[in-house]
Amino acid sequence: MSGSNGSMAGKIVLITGASRGIGKATAMGLGRMGARLCLVVRDLEKGKAVAAQIAARGNRDVEVLRADLASQADIKRVAAEFDERHDRLDVLINNAGALCSARKLTVDGIEHTFAVNHLAYFMLTCLLRDKLKASAPARIINVSSSAHARGRIDLDDLGKERKYGGMGAYSQSKLANVLFTYELARRLAGTGVTANCLHPGVVFTGFGGGEPGWLKLMTRLATPFMLSEEEGAETSIYLASSPEVEGVTGAYFVKSKRRQSSRLSYDAELSRKLWEASEKMTGVRWD
Ligand SMILES: NC(=O)c1ccc[n+]([C@@H]2O[C@H](COP(=O)([O-])OP(=O)(O)OC[C@H]3O[C@@H](n4cnc5c(N)ncnc54)[C@H](OP(=O)(O)O)[C@@H]3O)[C@@H](O)[C@H]2O)c1
Repeated sequence: MSGSNGSMAGKIVLITGASRGIGKATAMGLGRMGARLCLVVRDLEKGKAVAAQIAARGNRDVEVLRADLASQADIKRVAAEFDERHDRLDVLINNAGALCSARKLTVDGIEHTFAVNHLAYFMLTCLLRDKLKASAPARIINVSSSAHARGRIDLDDLGKERKYGGMGAYSQSKLANVLFTYELARRLAGTGVTANCLHPGVVFTGFGGGEPGWLKLMTRLATPFMLSEEEGAETSIYLASSPEVEGVTGAYFVKSKRRQSSRLSYDAELSRKLWEASEKMTGVRWD
């Protein structure tokens, strides 16, 4: 793995969506490097199975916390649980994601893709910011996607009530990840906490596999060209551990290299407005 030779011994890493796919491979990789892991999963049994696999490879320092990231109450509870149990957080990896071909609402009445892919990243980060600041140098890593480049943010219709398409909602949420990361980096300037985002590559994880139709077909056709889960985890692991990115903040990475994100993602005014909308939708405030 290029450049990710930093020791993670003793570092506390919280990672969401660690029950499978890229999140699981990221947890396994960081576990091998000696990190103390907190896996946030919505299915405790799946999380415990991942923890057992990490333990079987020699690292027993793995905690599993349950949260459905589509529920704001769950996010608040899990952040409070983490806060109570730990006096530091060295790396926060917002990784859990979903793609819904049909529009559906969360228990909070918010469009599901936007809630899980963006608002959960936003909430967890805001709720844990003091712990991160107290642990500086600390790192925040938001798993986005190259799909962000097709994304548009409609501030008047973030829940896509007027016209819903699974890919449109997904791209919007992944653009939100990049805009959020850049605004976060601005707000964290001088604190020693960095914020970066990434595209993991096109990875064979079964992502969107529960969804009907064209997406399944596209995935099947693309399968021979897709990365393994371990390859898909490399950039997250690099950003979490490499001394090469010490102090680097507000950047987008692909294949462990800094890359330009879409032109729209650099719109600071849009970032700020999205932040304000996110505060309103969650009731969680930065200040
Ligand atoms: N795969 C790709 O090619 C690709 C490309 C670009 C970006 N990405 C991004 O990479 C990240 C990980 O994707 P992946 O491919 O590893 O997907 P995956 O295999 O489908 O895994 C998604 C993870 O998110 C969790 N999750 C989904 N909804 C949740 C909720 N409401 N509450 C808590 N956890 C929830 C899942 O938990 P359960 O096990 O409980 O379902 C699972 O652990 C996502 O942010 C995705 O947008 C993936």
